[in-house]
Amino acid sequence: MQKCKQLYEGKAKKVFLTEEPDVLIVSYKDDATAFNGQKKGTIVGKGAINNRMTNFLFQKMEEKGVSTHFIQELNDRETAVRRVEIVPLEVIVRNVAAGSFSKRLGVEEGKELAEPTIEFSYKNDALEDPLINSYFAKALELATSEEIETIKRYAFMVNDILKAEFLKAGLRLIDFKIEFGRYHGKIILADEISPDTCRLWDVESGDKMDKDRFRRDLGNVEEAYIEVARRLGLEI
Ligand code: TMP
Ligand code: ASP
Repeated sequence: MQKCKQLYEGKAKKVFLTEEPDVLIVSYKDDATAFNGQKKGTIVGKGAINNRMTNFLFQKMEEKGVSTHFIQELNDRETAVRRVEIVPLEVIVRNVAAGSFSKRLGVEEGKELAEPTIEFSYKNDALEDPLINSYFAKALELATSEEIETIKRYAFMVNDILKAEFLKAGLRLIDFKIEFGRYHGKIILADEISPDTCRLWDVESGDKMDKDRFRRDLGNVEEAYIEVARRLGLEI
């Protein structure tokens, strides 16, 4: 599989066309941003970790019946994926109050929720990804009712699978963000699942093992990413 022209460069990944019209190559960067790109930095080794981790977790998803864009890992940073049309929604599932949920609703970080929640943000950097609901998504034609139902069902399946995988690694899944794409009319899981897009707390100590270490200047950012990868049994 050969990289052709660069199609797109995002905050954490580059995307390349290939000679196959239905196949793209994603290349994971070490660049890190937070607060809609206002805070910028580098997390050394992050690209390779997020690539390996996403591929490992996406293969788990496939085994459990969630279709994904994953095709083949090409090297430590690059993966061949199905070319999808991204649904412009950030889908966030939460098990424990943290981050913007805690801030917006005045709930202490760490409070276990009675049941998992799901929320949608409109993927639009200029508007800073505003929170919307499924009625907005339908009214703005971001997704159809049927697609939203599929997205919700998949998102909760992803939550169950991720919770179990991370628990085996001594990590509590607090919340995460995922994105979906359309592939020949079907909704499939796209983008990534990594410490950039999940909150993961050590089961014993409660230590934060994710991008909040970068967002909140907690130090030992690289070490946390490496530790999560090690605990999942990934070779980095
Ligand atoms: P939040 O509490 O800031 O809304 O974040 C919820 C989850 O979504 C958390 O695991 C971090 C992840 N996330 C992203 O992956 N990308 C983003 O742009 C934001 C704001 C959050
Ligand atoms: N990746 C997002 C950004 O730069 C936000 C985040 O993950 O906190 O804007």
